[in-house]
Amino acid sequence: MAVDLLLGLQWGDEGKGKIVDVLTSNYNIIARFQGGPNAGHTLVFNGMKHVLHTIPSGIFHEDAVNLVGNGVVIDPVIFKNELDKLATQNVDYRKSLVISRKAHLILPTHRLLDAASEASKGKAKIGSTLKGIGPTYMDKTGRNGIRVGDLELDNWKEKYRALANKHESMVAFYNVDLEYDLEELETEFFEAVKVLKSLKFIDSEEYLHQAQRDQKSILAEGAQGSLLDIDFGTYPFVTSSNTTAAGACTGLGIAPNSIGEVFGIFKAYTTRVGSGPFPTELFDEVGETMGRVGNEFGATTGRSRRCGWLDLVALRYACQVNGVTQLMMMKADVLSGFKALKVCTAYNYKGDIIHHFPYNVESENITPIYTDFDGWEEDLTEMDNESTLPKSLLTYIEFLEKELEIPIKVVSVGPDRKQTIFR
Ligand code: IMP
Repeated sequence: MAVDLLLGLQWGDEGKGKIVDVLTSNYNIIARFQGGPNAGHTLVFNGMKHVLHTIPSGIFHEDAVNLVGNGVVIDPVIFKNELDKLATQNVDYRKSLVISRKAHLILPTHRLLDAASEASKGKAKIGSTLKGIGPTYMDKTGRNGIRVGDLELDNWKEKYRALANKHESMVAFYNVDLEYDLEELETEFFEAVKVLKSLKFIDSEEYLHQAQRDQKSILAEGAQGSLLDIDFGTYPFVTSSNTTAAGACTGLGIAPNSIGEVFGIFKAYTTRVGSGPFPTELFDEVGETMGRVGNEFGATTGRSRRCGWLDLVALRYACQVNGVTQLMMMKADVLSGFKALKVCTAYNYKGDIIHHFPYNVESENITPIYTDFDGWEEDLTEMDNESTLPKSLLTYIEFLEKELEIPIKVVSVGPDRKQTIFR
């Protein structure tokens, strides 16, 4: 059976967690394929808000298996905190959670390296979540990493020590002011590793291949967004994994020709957290209002997100890189009350009008070209049917569908599971 993919099309925080949660009842297996605790997937149901970082967003559905794929990087300490929270909500994660032996571990010293690297960059810093993501993926590609499966070996602590010692000398090399108590960090780490080891480790690619043969339905869940992809994002202001569709193949071991639907999630406007170019960013009270109404604060770091108009040049690029087959538009409710809306349809790039996302999207090179739309006053948050949506919102949606040549199948009008309109 085909594997469906769900991905963010902007700079993350599109609302993937909510949609995975909404869609989970259609799937037997939810599989996270990349990223780690830099993600913050927010789910709201029964009046409660839940934030997941590494655990797939299907965990609240009793019948789904939740798989952490080989492409994910796991911080045992953060993972344990997530499990503790799930336990207080009576989620039987021991039954429903499985972890790839090939997933890499984030060590305490990876976090220190992340902090030292960012501090050494000064103004050029990436704005990393400082969860150790970059250094862990560097060790993975440098063939030095420690994997979940290593925890089953007798000598894994020796391997750990050698790597941690190397990291410590690298931290010293950065020569930045960084205070830490490694002993304390390691005590916490080893305690958390014990908990991790009590979970089910699997050969996940084999598990997924068998599941496909057994006609099980699988949803691959991405983290971050396409414009943060290590290859196709706004490098170097990106994360360290492939957040795009190809990442699902390498991060789970599924074959490209077994991919079915590709669900592309985007917000009705654009946000970005951390540094890096953002052509349609707003620095006025319109942007400020979007941030306030949309509660645009990072679910992982609490940092306020930068806000701006929808950028169709960037969105089209993301749709193409991912082969998106269905779009899902989030946070339409946040745009209620704006008199007029703008959508960027092209860039003036050093004097030329272009429609593609160029190598260099720094704002000094680009002036966005906008199409204007009427806004709407109505509060959308109680609406549950397309026919009740304001006419100007429908005009906005139809314009996007025409420009992108992909249907918008879902319009989200609030954070709750129930505030979801299927078209
Ligand atoms: P890192 O992945 O923590 O190293 O962060 C690299 C860049 O990606 C920074 O600009 C972060 O703010 C951004 N980033 C990482 N994860 C997320 C996410 O889940 N949502 C939004 N931005 C993210």
